[in-house]
Amino acid sequence: MCGIIKRFPGVLANDCVDFAVHQGEVHALLGENGAGKSTLMKVLYGLYRPDDGEILLNGEPVQITSPTDAIRFGIGMIHQHFMLVPSLTVAENVALGLPSSRGVITDLDRVSKRITELGKTYGLQVDPRARVWQLSVGQQQRVEIIKALYRGAELLILDEPTAVLTPQEVAEFFQILRQMVKEGHSVIFISHKLQEVLDISDRVTVLRDGAVVGSRLKGTMTKAELARMMVGRDVGFQRNRAPVTPGEVRLSLHDVWARSDRGTDALQGVSLEVRAGEILGLAGVSGNGQRELAQVINGLRPVARGHVQLEGKDTTGVSPVELIAQGLAYIPEERMRDGMIRDFSVAENLILREHATAPFARRGFLDFKAIARVAAGHIVDFNVKTPSQETLAKNLSGGNIQKVILARELSREPRVIVAAQPTRGLDIGATIYVHERLLDERSRSLREEKRHGAAILLISEDLDEILALSDRIAVIYEGRIMDIVPSEEATPERLGLLMAGVTKEV
Ligand SMILES: Nc1ncnc2c1ncn2[C@@H]1O[C@H](COP(=O)(O)OP(=O)(O)OP(=O)(O)O)[C@@H](O)[C@H]1O
Ligand SMILES: [Mg+2]
Repeated sequence: MCGIIKRFPGVLANDCVDFAVHQGEVHALLGENGAGKSTLMKVLYGLYRPDDGEILLNGEPVQITSPTDAIRFGIGMIHQHFMLVPSLTVAENVALGLPSSRGVITDLDRVSKRITELGKTYGLQVDPRARVWQLSVGQQQRVEIIKALYRGAELLILDEPTAVLTPQEVAEFFQILRQMVKEGHSVIFISHKLQEVLDISDRVTVLRDGAVVGSRLKGTMTKAELARMMVGRDVGFQRNRAPVTPGEVRLSLHDVWARSDRGTDALQGVSLEVRAGEILGLAGVSGNGQRELAQVINGLRPVARGHVQLEGKDTTGVSPVELIAQGLAYIPEERMRDGMIRDFSVAENLILREHATAPFARRGFLDFKAIARVAAGHIVDFNVKTPSQETLAKNLSGGNIQKVILARELSREPRVIVAAQPTRGLDIGATIYVHERLLDERSRSLREEKRHGAAILLISEDLDEILALSDRIAVIYEGRIMDIVPSEEATPERLGLLMAGVTKEV
């Protein structure tokens, strides 16, 4: 890609970018949220027309004006946000858009067979007949990869593929990538996790504010240097967790059972308590009931048996709206679906929870001045990169969408916070900021009559994050809490065993 320029209203997303990928390499693209990584890749995949610049493939200039062109040239892309149709099966999703020579039914059988083959070859097992809405985030990711491989991708663009994978899945996934480059495929890999980038990449290119800052070859870069290139200053990797004496129990679950979308028992007698001024980390491999647990607490999924209590009051079966009014904040895992309204502006998304109350609404009318004032404050506080408040949320970069949700949820001084994968997809600077904000909420003490900070349930698959922030750590496995340990006694090894369902030393 030579001299690529791409403008959006109010933003220069790609500022004369030169970017080259060799055959048989993993080339990582790094940069802060909003640096222009996804935009550059969408240009390569034919989703955006560049304002200037050209694309050369094997030395020949090519016109890529649509994903169909890209696929014809052997370019596959897996997006940061999934593009699957939830109501269709895996096989139907893979078949979607493929030229079909024969009847749909026979084609689907053939597609299913090939999916199973690809699954075997690359270790990407998934049931071709399962409906996508029933799959975990990690499984949906696999479908996306299979879809690209199915179409014969030679150059595979992976936009934050590991953000949704568990550590074990990442290891398997890297095996697949290594296999692919060995066979001559090329991979462009976008990630905010520097250790992963160092592990898998042959080369790294860093973008900042739409322009290339530099490129480095494997073995010539360190984490600290990459971070400095991205952010433009030194970055600390340590968190300060000041000691806090926890207060009263704010959130408790007693023997809670709930069903998954598939009708299985996703939660099997979960009991736990979170106190004011405490972060309880919930560690576990994705798909072990974390999602259902968060939904049950937030009134988004029925409780089959047992009780949920908020500040001593039974809230089992209480509606999400009432729970919000009682001071519950929720940072959902699937933000595009559960966290925001794509076609609303940034400002509207920022006040989504409180749009019906003062100061935003008066006698049934929205007070746009009040909305603009509060939104402006949130945008500054959380460093949301957006051309304006009126920009539609769907036009923000992935990490900035996350910042909008965090700003909205944390700015209400909630009594209880359920944070599911709160830093997934965030760059280093934003991750540090969110960690500090969560720690602030925890120790927000002695303010008015509130003697303690919020009670925080932190659901994360990132063990480093769990270990850095939590006061106590619970491990969930197949819908049951395996153990709850004080964070001083927790080690990655001990947690890892519990996450695999092992209770006693073997
Ligand atoms: N369709 C669009 N319309 C308007 N602005 C856009 C659009 N797509 C991206 N932008 C803007 O272009 C800039 C670059 O966004 P991009 O999505 O490429 O960032 P990114 O590096 O992928 O960030 P992240 O790590 O958060 O995913 C951002 O300021 C974003 O708001
Ligand atoms: Mg992006």
